[in-house]
Amino acid sequence: MTSQQTIAVLDFGSQYTRLIARRVRENHVHSLVVRPDINCEELRHLNVAGLIFSGSPSSAYDPTAPQCQPDVLSAGWPILGICYGMQLVCRMLGGRVVRGTMREYGRVPLQILSADQLFQHLPEHTTVWMSHGDRVETLPEDCEVLARTGDCPHAAVRHRTLPFWGVQFHPEVTHTPDGGRILRNFLYDICRCSGNWHVGQMIPKIIEGVRAQVGAAERVLCGLSGGVDSSTVATLLHRAIGDRLVCIFVDNGLLRKNERHLVEATFREHFQMTLRIAEAQDRFLAALSGVTDPQQKRRIIGHEFIEVFRQEAISIPSARFLAQGTLYPDVIESGQSPGGKATNIKIHHNVGGLPEELGFELIEPLRDLFKDEVRLMAEHLGLPEEIVWRHPFPGPGLAVRIVGEVTRSRLELLREVDAIVLDEIRAAGWYRKIAQAFAVLLPVSAVGVTGDHRSYEDTQVVSIRFVETEDYMTADWVRIDYEVLARISSRIMNEVRGINRVTYDISSKPPATIEWE
Ligand code: XMP
Repeated sequence: MTSQQTIAVLDFGSQYTRLIARRVRENHVHSLVVRPDINCEELRHLNVAGLIFSGSPSSAYDPTAPQCQPDVLSAGWPILGICYGMQLVCRMLGGRVVRGTMREYGRVPLQILSADQLFQHLPEHTTVWMSHGDRVETLPEDCEVLARTGDCPHAAVRHRTLPFWGVQFHPEVTHTPDGGRILRNFLYDICRCSGNWHVGQMIPKIIEGVRAQVGAAERVLCGLSGGVDSSTVATLLHRAIGDRLVCIFVDNGLLRKNERHLVEATFREHFQMTLRIAEAQDRFLAALSGVTDPQQKRRIIGHEFIEVFRQEAISIPSARFLAQGTLYPDVIESGQSPGGKATNIKIHHNVGGLPEELGFELIEPLRDLFKDEVRLMAEHLGLPEEIVWRHPFPGPGLAVRIVGEVTRSRLELLREVDAIVLDEIRAAGWYRKIAQAFAVLLPVSAVGVTGDHRSYEDTQVVSIRFVETEDYMTADWVRIDYEVLARISSRIMNEVRGINRVTYDISSKPPATIEWE
């Protein structure tokens, strides 16, 4: 039984379920996404202080729609039902839910009718985000209306005797400007959460869990890339089992300038971890020789990585475990969370991960964390800022940023360009405002003039790409200051021989992707 107060988010299948859990944690209350039919005993075991019922693509009047256990409603926990969550509870308490004559979608003015705890400190008129077709036509007995919109007379309700509140709109999305206030009212005033949870509190529990899993004698391997996830995993494991952690860094020759140096300085010298470097530059380059197709590059790199890792691993005695940076969104999607979904939406595969056939037992210390929480935890663990805030870097590295063949000289060129780009955006204070910043080397020559001479042969073109994104599924190019671009361009032309043209990529995703390959 866990001692921290938890808000359980019952997942009825809404696209916003994860966002609800994140919003709760952002307000310093621990939250978990759980199966909709979780029972009271399981909820007590999680030390639940309140429940949030998510939305759903289903209709509450459909007999096959997901349900909750009836006794959960009367167990005394405060419940906030959102959209379907509200409709479901209203129906279970005797109300009537019907298909609306038209969908209500988008920002809608809301009028608050009653000075209820849920709407404390809110103005009488505000705006909320609606996205529903069905609606509660008849309220259950003992339910009262708290707010309405033009098309929805029952936009917010509460029960007079049970601790149940329902909102037809979505307080978790940023399009509901007072949504944060509503959630805080629910968490602090209704559920009486203390709001002092932070991600650092998970560290002792994680360490305890790792020690229990590993036992006293075995060793754990960790593929360390220098990204924030694997760096956090390594640091947690080192705290838990010290020298019995062996980190393996594969130098595939496709890394950024100084990347290997930073990893060595941080983990071997500063944290004094056992760090093995697999020298595999020649091997990767040889395997990539003559290859220009992006997917073929990925396949080769993935295959070589596994082979190199396997060879390192077999030389380490009693290594039975492999530590991986699986995150909470992967766990939720694969249905493995406490009381997680019964049916798997997707089986988790870590990007660039190692296959099951290697025969390791997995240790996944980040499986309760969202990505932004990993950064906070990395800060708690004392990792350097350069690692904590590092942009994601693809497993195939610079190979997918060199359009055409990957050669040693083209890698060296791109490495120099890339270092200038990162240098300049750091100096200008833009690094943290950009999700990913990089340069791409194009297999194109362009006419130029150097001194009095025309240049063409032996010249190459680079494209600079800066994107902003929340989830990497869609992205937009960054409207960065021209002055920053001017400095980058001038430094590249002056300092990197062979580049005589610099372009800035203004494509959004979709239809482009973030990487060029
Ligand atoms: P795209 O190019 O698909 O990229 O818009 C989305 C995100 O995924 C990263 N990416 C990769 N990461 N192996 C990885 O580990 C890959 O093969 C790979 N391809 C793209 C990309 O950098 C961006 O963050």
